Amino acid sequence: MRNTVLKLTPLSANTGVEIAGVDLANPLSPEAAQEIRDALNTWGAVFFRDQDITPDQQVAFARHFGTVEKRTHPSSMSPVEGTPEVSIIHREPTDGRNTGGFWHTDQCFLPDPPLGSVLYAKSLPTRGGDTMFCHMGAACAELSEGMRAMLRGLKAVHVRLNYHGIGGKPQWGVTPDELEFFTMKYAGQVATHPVIGRHPESGQEILYVNPIYTDRFEGWTREESQPLIQYLCERATRPENYCRFDWKPGSLAMWDNRAVLHYALDDYAGESRTMHRCVVLGPWLQPAA
Ligand SMILES: [Fe+2]
Repeated sequence: MRNTVLKLTPLSANTGVEIAGVDLANPLSPEAAQEIRDALNTWGAVFFRDQDITPDQQVAFARHFGTVEKRTHPSSMSPVEGTPEVSIIHREPTDGRNTGGFWHTDQCFLPDPPLGSVLYAKSLPTRGGDTMFCHMGAACAELSEGMRAMLRGLKAVHVRLNYHGIGGKPQWGVTPDELEFFTMKYAGQVATHPVIGRHPESGQEILYVNPIYTDRFEGWTREESQPLIQYLCERATRPENYCRFDWKPGSLAMWDNRAVLHYALDDYAGESRTMHRCVVLGPWLQPAA
């Protein structure tokens, strides 16, 4: 298939677009690459069906968007042999917890989170396992001018440990001993980012908060901050604002980690799933003002 005529089908009002007419096993023409990049800047996530690609071809696609990260895999992932840029995300039927089963952006607790990710379905459960995406540019635009003006003056503190426990109390089945271990392991993984940033390519204002890792506004207590953070997240993630991508064999998704939240649904207990992921690095959100 030649990559010359792309057909774009949006999945929702603001988030996600399916792109047909592309065979990612072949190099993209500059025009096709630009069209996909434009679609990503508009919709926050792009989806392709029925792809049959090697790990190297996945990396070649990812390189159109930035620098592809090499080998900083969490301990739960291993690299594809011969292509260290691609991690294997594998879940066994007996595995308890799902990675990313809540609204979040990746690595927001680091000073320089990745630009985005490219995820390719290798083997899937018989049902379930969809991923949801929510455009935080659209969520930001929905707020009143008064609220946006206030939020532009704020930064938020993002804390990795919140996934495991908050205020010394374990979350989601984590034991007190495990929490003690994670508290030591993730002590330094705290980062502060503007609550509203400007997307470096689209220029759109992005609301950069999420319900788990965003702990508080800088200079505020957690108790003071959480009602507003949770309000912003609940408003942003209303069903009208997100899309839901149903993975099929050969599906590939790329999302902009600066513009969308994502949520990996944990509804396929007892089945396995294998995905190939590569992470793209690039310019982060700019100051909004
Ligand atoms: Fe994630």
